[in-house]
Amino acid sequence: NSEIKIMKNQIELFKTAKSLEELNNTICNCEKCDLHKGRNKFVFGKGNPNAVVMVIGEGPGADEDAQGEPFVGRAGQLLTDILKAINFTRDEVYIANIVKCRPPANRAPLQSEIDVCIQFLEKQIELISPKLILCLGTTAANAMLNKKETLGNMRQNVFNYGARKVVVTYHPAALLRNPNWKRDCWEDVQMFRKLYDELPSTEK
Ligand code: URA
Repeated sequence: NSEIKIMKNQIELFKTAKSLEELNNTICNCEKCDLHKGRNKFVFGKGNPNAVVMVIGEGPGADEDAQGEPFVGRAGQLLTDILKAINFTRDEVYIANIVKCRPPANRAPLQSEIDVCIQFLEKQIELISPKLILCLGTTAANAMLNKKETLGNMRQNVFNYGARKVVVTYHPAALLRNPNWKRDCWEDVQMFRKLYDELPSTEK
């Protein structure tokens, strides 16, 4: 019991973390929701700690759970290509997920799981301080923007997240199932790139 208390206190320390590494260390053994039970690796996120652009997915799949890194499977390869198409490399952006542990059988994370995990993402965003955020898929967009909308209603808009701007597009896994959505995704990421290009040079 006292061990559980110590662990809970340790997780609460995440709020005062001064770096991404410190944040990762305080949360990587998290047991705040049931997803930890099936976890092989905690998938914190990866990329440039000073990124201007952050990309946010839903949660780890099997490959990510095995490797401990976001978007390393087939959808990840497509994400790499999408970023390349708008002149970004994976290394210059920061890639993270709404939930850090793999949901069983790749189901969407439950609202209760999102509610406990999104504070970690919020802290990540605070530390990285990106100017622009690209949300991949309905789950990520609704969680980030506190909405219950369809993707079709959210794409092609620019939302505010505090002082940051958010654009929403299809999740690459959805594009693998439905290649005819790629054209819309292309339009969305072109719009996103334009926002980046229009940032004042002092902000990038
Ligand atoms: N899908 C996601 O949403 N995130 C990943 O990291 C991998 C696949």
